[in-house]
Amino acid sequence: YFNPQEHKKLKGKKVVITAGPTREKIDPVRFISNHSSGKMGYALAEESVKQGARVILVSGPVSLTPPQGVELVKVESAEDMYQAVLKYYDNADVVIKTAAVADYRPKITFDHKVKKQVGDTNIELERTNDILFELGKRKVNQILVGFAAETDHLEEYAQSKLIRKNADMIVANNVKAEGAGFGTDTNIVTLFKRSGEVIPLPLMSKNEVAGKIIEEITSLCKDMGT
Ligand code: CTP
Ligand code: CA
Repeated sequence: YFNPQEHKKLKGKKVVITAGPTREKIDPVRFISNHSSGKMGYALAEESVKQGARVILVSGPVSLTPPQGVELVKVESAEDMYQAVLKYYDNADVVIKTAAVADYRPKITFDHKVKKQVGDTNIELERTNDILFELGKRKVNQILVGFAAETDHLEEYAQSKLIRKNADMIVANNVKAEGAGFGTDTNIVTLFKRSGEVIPLPLMSKNEVAGKIIEEITSLCKDMGT
């Protein structure tokens, strides 16, 4: 569509977007992961490029083609993603953490296929780094946007993540709602901003949702005077 240079909302901005799931290895043939398709993150990357940003897309394993013009950084585990994001953080203007990062990983990763054994029914887990929380602690003047996929208490959980992780906006969705959540091409989200503003959006395509999120991020950039 018609989008002349001067109307590009994120011209000159460096935007880091994480997308997809992470995989936490148990052994060479098994891992712990989740249902994230990466569609929301890839839609945000495409919209950010359209709006003139330099986009670093840090992506877990997904079956999507990266949008033209992004710099793709492929990662597997939460730790890989954490290291990759940190590398780009200092110079970033905006970080959007769409990725569904695994909260736990196996304490031990075996380098051989583990055989089943009588009574061997537990995998010992440990917590991964909370990437968004770490970014929030180190925030200088970056705009930090997180996601919250919930099945209940959407507002309460989203608001607490906003504060705890020192984010500027949380995009929350109820993954149980029809047309929202994992794998679909549509989403129903509510934006919770640090200012206290709450913006519920109707059922829209993930591309349209991306457009709205980028609009709000643009206004956050203006508020910050960047
Ligand atoms: N997140 C992250 N690193 C993690 C876990 C989550 O950066 N190890 C980010 C996600 O990318 C998302 C936000 O934090 O932007 C919220 O993720 P979510 O899973 O909803 O929240 P958690 O804090 O992990 O809490 P819980 O899963 O218990 O709801
Ligand atoms: Ca989580």
